Amino acid sequence: MKIAWGITGAGHLLAETVDVIEDLAEDHEITIFLSNAGEEVLKMYGLYERIATLTGGRYKELALDSDQSFSYPISGRLSLGKYDLFVLSPTTSNTVAKIVHGIADSLVTNSVAQAGKGGVQTLIVPVDFEEGDVETILPSKLDLESCADCEVCEASNSCSQGAIIPKKEINLLKCIGCGDCTDSCQYDVISAGKLVTIHMRGIDIENTHKLVLMDGIYVLKHPNEVRKHI
Ligand SMILES: Cc1cc2nc3c(=O)[nH]c(=O)nc-3n(C[C@H](O)[C@H](O)[C@H](O)COP(=O)(O)O)c2cc1C
Repeated sequence: MKIAWGITGAGHLLAETVDVIEDLAEDHEITIFLSNAGEEVLKMYGLYERIATLTGGRYKELALDSDQSFSYPISGRLSLGKYDLFVLSPTTSNTVAKIVHGIADSLVTNSVAQAGKGGVQTLIVPVDFEEGDVETILPSKLDLESCADCEVCEASNSCSQGAIIPKKEINLLKCIGCGDCTDSCQYDVISAGKLVTIHMRGIDIENTHKLVLMDGIYVLKHPNEVRKHI
């Protein structure tokens, strides 16, 4: 099967998505479409390389928003029906909002529009699914209350990307989520994968309901459910 798989900038369900893609890539050709934020967030959670190593060759490309400029030529493959399936997981509230309003101004939103025109079955996993609170996972973070203000910051020294600004913060746009810093600080200032509870906004849930009503789109709760559609 030829699958186009879009990833947006959501930390929620991201690791679970990468697990499913790795599994399916053993038997299927998968082209990955990354939103700009999807590319950044995959790096922050240390998952980018796992996706990059799965790609290479026709219909197994890694398509970046920034490489596609403004007209997204690669999404033309969807309007021509070259893929058997288009999956978007995880899908941010931002991208869901654009899709339900017919906006197609990024690689992934344009791909959803083109998949609709080409009759390609589209599965979408929105991260904002139902009302209430949800537990989600954070990328690397400094806990400044534990910081001992050492003369030499070992955590900062251990970072090959220069992402740690001592006594201040981690520059997540430089962080590649490698985790080298976590063991380097004897005061355990750096945490990775901490759980945090966030509240779902009404407007985002409303947009997910609108998504469910759209023709040609199936809304799934979890990336694992994609397997049932293969
Ligand atoms: C570490 C991190 C995690 C994020 N997780 C989420 C998330 O779970 N859900 C969401 O809607 N936005 C999340 N965002 C915000 C989106 O990345 C941001 O709204 C972005 O503009 C979405 O762009 P896209 O929809 O084109 O991918 C996160 C941002 C960061 C930095």
